[in-house]
Amino acid sequence: MKKPYRIAVLASGGGTNLQSIIDQQQTGELPITIALVISNNPGAGALERAQQAGISTLCINHRDYPTRENFDRALVNALQQAEVDLVVLAGFMRIITPIMLTAFPQRIINIHPALLPSFPGLNVQQQAIDYGARFSGCTVHFVDADVDTGPIIIQAVVPILAEDSAATLAERILEQEHRIYPQAIQWLAEGRVTLDGRKVIITDSRSCVNTLTNPTH
Ligand code: GRF
Repeated sequence: MKKPYRIAVLASGGGTNLQSIIDQQQTGELPITIALVISNNPGAGALERAQQAGISTLCINHRDYPTRENFDRALVNALQQAEVDLVVLAGFMRIITPIMLTAFPQRIINIHPALLPSFPGLNVQQQAIDYGARFSGCTVHFVDADVDTGPIIIQAVVPILAEDSAATLAERILEQEHRIYPQAIQWLAEGRVTLDGRKVIITDSRSCVNTLTNPTH
C-alpha cells in the first residue's frame, strides 16, 4: 500500500485555511494525513480547530526562544519527529529561516492573500484597494529565503469592487484561498508538482486554468 502523504500545518490565527484542509481531508477528497498542527500563538483558533478534528497539536511559542534560529530549530525537531512530507504555512506570522528551508527543501508552501509578485508583506488587501488595482486574489507558492517570493503553484483572481473595504475584500479572497490551498496540496500529494527554475509544472492538471471568479454582487 502507498505510504500516506503526511503534512503539518503551521498557523498563528483563526485557522480557516486549516479548516478547509481538514474538511477536504475528511470527505476523502484530499489524500493526506494531517500529522500535526503547530502554532506559535497559544490562543490560536487553529489549535482549537485541530483539536476538535482529533489532530495532534503543538504550541511552540516564539517568545520562549532567544532567536529566530532557535525557534526554527524547535520547529524542525517537531516536524521531523512527526515525519512530515510537506509543511503548510496557513497564516503563520513568523519569518522562516534557512534552518527550516534546509531541513525541508522545496517542501514548505505558503498562501498569500494577493496576486504575487504584487503586494507582498502585510495588510495587502488595503494596499491593493489604495493602489487602485482592479483585481487582487491569492497565491500559493513555495517558500524560499525571501518573503513571498517563491515559485508560484496556483493563483485565483478576485475583482476589487468600488465599495470594497479591506475586510470585504479579504472575505472574498479567503473563499478562494479555501479552494486553491487544498488543490495545491492535492497536486503535491499526488507527486504531480515539479520545478523548472522558478516555473512550477503541474502534470495532468485539468483544473489549474480558469481560476477567475465572478463578483458576488
Ligand atoms: C489568510 O488570508 C492567508 O492568506 C494569510 O493569513 C490569513 C490566514 O487566515 N497568510 P486563516 O487563519 O487561515 O483564517
